[in-house]
Amino acid sequence: MIVTTTQIFRHAYGKYAIGAYNINNLEQAVGLFRGNLGKIKSNTEPANPAVSAPFILQISRGARSYTDKRFLEAIIRAAEEVFPEAIFAVHLDHGTEEVCYDCIDSGFYTSVMIDASHEEFEKNIEITKRVVDRAHAKGVVVEAELGQLGGVEEDVVADVKLTDPDQAAEFVERTGCDSLAVAIGTSHGVAKFVGQQGVRFDRLQQIQQKLPPGYPLVMHGASSVPREWVERINAAGGQLKNTSGVPEDDYLEAAKMGVVKINIDTDGRLVWCAVYRESFRDNPSDFDPRTPGKLFMPVYAEYIIHKNKMLGSAGQLESVRAMLTQG
Ligand code: G3H
Ligand code: 13P
Ligand code: ZN
Repeated sequence: MIVTTTQIFRHAYGKYAIGAYNINNLEQAVGLFRGNLGKIKSNTEPANPAVSAPFILQISRGARSYTDKRFLEAIIRAAEEVFPEAIFAVHLDHGTEEVCYDCIDSGFYTSVMIDASHEEFEKNIEITKRVVDRAHAKGVVVEAELGQLGGVEEDVVADVKLTDPDQAAEFVERTGCDSLAVAIGTSHGVAKFVGQQGVRFDRLQQIQQKLPPGYPLVMHGASSVPREWVERINAAGGQLKNTSGVPEDDYLEAAKMGVVKINIDTDGRLVWCAVYRESFRDNPSDFDPRTPGKLFMPVYAEYIIHKNKMLGSAGQLESVRAMLTQG
């Protein structure tokens, strides 16, 4: 069942966070759906309610243009049929105004992110408000961003600029956006923190206090960049250096301060890279594209289960379903 993020945020607020996972291909999609249903080895094994979770499937502009957006969308439509028990939102990650309109008009996305965070305050408000008006007219919800994460987002290179709590309150009031991505010290990619740096919970708490009660916040750049996966990649010929991520114990801490959506892309890429590198290393005479894919899907499913446990969303699916069916 495809839902809006607002429907599932209500259930999570203050208690746990929903995992927002980026996908680019079939194997990531299958591993993601299996993981969120507690299925590991096959699509047809029974779901495991003890770990099943609602989730947000994210598609970036890069993912849409990797081949043709219709291929990725068709994979998701097929996954909805293969995994009818799943409850998820289809979300555009880091959209421009133009791409937001394309997704809103498609009737397939239930949520879009307009990212005009690189613009100055008034311009960000102006663009975001236009997208909100057009999205709400079609029943689509909107995530916006204020402040700037570090690192590279799509084609924009940004310096960290923490979200100002007073501006956040004004921004939400004037744009009517349904959730807000805040800059609280994280950045995209494998290198997030240096030395003693970490998530700025002090700033997050100040932002939450300025916003209306129950207002949904989003944490981008939330991958934990686990040492285990970096080491496996490097042992199989990779060269990842100076890596650091958000400690997984921070997820529930952030959830208590109003973060309901936690964005994870890099960790999924690391798992993908490790499994594929190891497969090529360990099967040097094999050239079947299905060999690494078959290894990856169950490993990724298990990783999603682990991640959802850390987010607190594991085991919430049936309660979300009951809430949705009761109206
Ligand atoms: O925030 C960026 C996401 O990790 C998407 O990355 O644009 O390379 O697909 P991508
Ligand atoms: P990571 O690079 O930490 O996975 O962040 C992903 C993200 O914020 C996608 O919007
Ligand atoms: Zn992001």
